[in-house]
Amino acid sequence: MQVLVTGGTGYIGSHTIVELLNHGYKVVAVDNFSNSKKEVIDKIEKITNKKIKFYKLNVCNKRKLETVFKENKIDAVIHFAGYKAVGESVQKPLMYYRNNLDSTLTLLEVMGKYNVKKIVFSSSATVYGDPEELPIKETARLSTTNPYGSTKLYIEGILKDLYISDNEYSIAILRYFNPVGAHPSGLLGEDPNGIPNNLMPYIVKVAKGELPQLNVFGNDYDTPDGTGVRDYIHVVDLALGHISALEYIDKNKGIDYYNLGTGKGYSVLEMVEAFSRENNVKIPYKIGPRREGDIASCYADTSKANKKLNWKATRTLSDMVKSAYKYVSKN
Ligand code: WQD
Repeated sequence: MQVLVTGGTGYIGSHTIVELLNHGYKVVAVDNFSNSKKEVIDKIEKITNKKIKFYKLNVCNKRKLETVFKENKIDAVIHFAGYKAVGESVQKPLMYYRNNLDSTLTLLEVMGKYNVKKIVFSSSATVYGDPEELPIKETARLSTTNPYGSTKLYIEGILKDLYISDNEYSIAILRYFNPVGAHPSGLLGEDPNGIPNNLMPYIVKVAKGELPQLNVFGNDYDTPDGTGVRDYIHVVDLALGHISALEYIDKNKGIDYYNLGTGKGYSVLEMVEAFSRENNVKIPYKIGPRREGDIASCYADTSKANKKLNWKATRTLSDMVKSAYKYVSKN
């Protein structure tokens, strides 16, 4: 089975390609390197000792994307490509709507033309907004609080309408909680350019001495230690969730939604403490004001993915913080 992976050199895309290759799939990857580097391809091939076919392109470019389908028999698609910074999306909403929606519509149109009707879509727990109930089930109310999250919600709606128009489609929508960590080889990981938005890459830069201290965004939330609680999931567990989803949609038509998390929440200070302890490195921090738009707690009910996809996250908090630090220490 040959799988097209859009956004294949990105953080989650690259880890997923490693697991696809490990599971015997053939992979064609596309990326425009807007948030990744070409070297990732070599690292994927070094880890797996397998080759992938790669095209540098923007998924919005229909002519170039069609070439991929003309030159390769594509059996299924995993769609990661898209902008994903919450703060940036608030500043530049039209850029986010144009890129994330246009690329998806272009992809779906080309897939339809080549009769490719199996897709796994990279969605996000951000579609739940501020949850009314915890842990969060897939049936929870959907409400987004930023343009990035809205693009994910709208794409979920596009996929639902596509399935209603043609029941031959097999669609898995994966709602990620907070991906962290890196491949155990230390060759792949998350190391964003500039000042990171997310907690783990920020902690890593403090650990490396590139940033002086972590600013903890508020300690007056209704949580055990007052700091924000999130469901952090190891990126390799997340990648394996895509393999399970692919196996499911290969045998089953339909559309469904799955939370990919661990079902356990950790606070900011618990993450700092775990990172310090497991990596034997100090992480200076200062308690500051809340970040606009942040919620107190968010963690998943993962029973649906556990049962229906026969998938469960197994990597520990220690695995997450140690692999994150090992990656940046080696690169
Ligand atoms: C985690 C916790 C912060 C940075 C976002 C997106 C979500 C997904 C994952 C794409 C919160 C606190 C953070 C810092 C801090 N991305 N924090 N100091 O906001 O849960 O989710 O990234 O799909 O869609 O919304 O992740 O890592 O930014 O924050 O105190 O410098 O760490 O307040 O409690 P978040 P995060």
